[in-house]
Amino acid sequence: MAKSSIVSIGAYVPPKILSNDDLSRMMETSDEWIRTRTGIHQRHVALPDETTASLSYQAASAALKGAQMAADELDWILLCTDTPEMWTPATACFVQDLLKAGRASAIDLTGGCAGFLQTLELGDALARQGKTVMVIGTELLSRSMDWTDRNTAVLFGDGAGAVIVQPKPEQGIRLTHSRTFSDGSQADILQKPYGGTRNPIPPEIVAQGGHHRIHMEGQKVFRQAVHRMSDAAKQVLADTATAAQDISWVVPHQANQRILDAVAGELRFPTSKVFSHVRNYANTGSASVILALADMLIQNLLEPGQRLVSVAFGDGFSWGAALWDLLTLPPVEFVGRDL
Ligand code: ACO
Repeated sequence: MAKSSIVSIGAYVPPKILSNDDLSRMMETSDEWIRTRTGIHQRHVALPDETTASLSYQAASAALKGAQMAADELDWILLCTDTPEMWTPATACFVQDLLKAGRASAIDLTGGCAGFLQTLELGDALARQGKTVMVIGTELLSRSMDWTDRNTAVLFGDGAGAVIVQPKPEQGIRLTHSRTFSDGSQADILQKPYGGTRNPIPPEIVAQGGHHRIHMEGQKVFRQAVHRMSDAAKQVLADTATAAQDISWVVPHQANQRILDAVAGELRFPTSKVFSHVRNYANTGSASVILALADMLIQNLLEPGQRLVSVAFGDGFSWGAALWDLLTLPPVEFVGRDL
């Protein structure tokens, strides 16, 4: 079956920036603690009138513009997020309406920080059947964050990314191979427990703001993230008989710098070839890999002929890796990018 490719990329981050010093005025933390533990210096956060659908719309519009494509050429909109517009309907339906993508079927998926790679695997399967697919990854955690919890509040940022996937095997970034995995038995290590059917929100929790609290056992997440992302990358290389030396760049989920450095060590890969811009954008969940890819293209780090491995890990746990071949440079627009 013909391979499919990413033929256009759009990205968006909100204009408002929250620095570590800003956070240290809101909670018991410091710029020094955050920088040394995570490598994060700042994060972008949504303005009051922005929502998950509006962030997604910005990224999706940029991708369509780059591809010189009309919205009604889309067959599918797959939107991955842990922070949806509302419980129902799907955020993707709001985006479909904003774009006026009249022919598109629209649905959400929730995969945490690995969600983009999982959703892209589904988008690739649809594209191989001849469909034109918009895959969006968006996170707006600042709206649903417990800003009193220094363990988690310092880690995340808001943003959205969108890629258009088509059956064009000679163009763009070819989706050569992908492996994604889940282990739901570890769901209790990283979760946002309140608000679903298992734990309806008790009024006393709302009064304390605790309904937004993320439960995270940080060191367990750290170890699993390093181990799972490295293993998935090795698996993808083994599946395709690709030597590590043939990989030009690792395009990782931007969890934090210490995790990225540890993954580089596990893979025996120079840290300089494991892309990071976590200092500027922090962890943007489902958007993170697309923002990284967009930034790499804009910084002219990529060129045709290169092979890339993307890796991601997040709640669930879910994780995965993908091998991408850069055939031609796809159009890219990153709205709000730091200069
Ligand atoms: N500012 C100041 N002190 C803090 C902060 C903060 N923001 N957060 C925690 N601390 C304190 C803790 O309370 C603790 O204090 P204590 O010793 O008095 O109890 C101390 O710092 C050390 O806490 P640890 O949790 O042991 O710190 P650690 O070195 O493990 O770093 C971190 C914490 C950064 C969260 C690390 O465990 C990590 O990176 N884990 C991965 C988490 C992650 O990336 N999650 C994102 C979602 S999943 C993903 O994207 C892969």
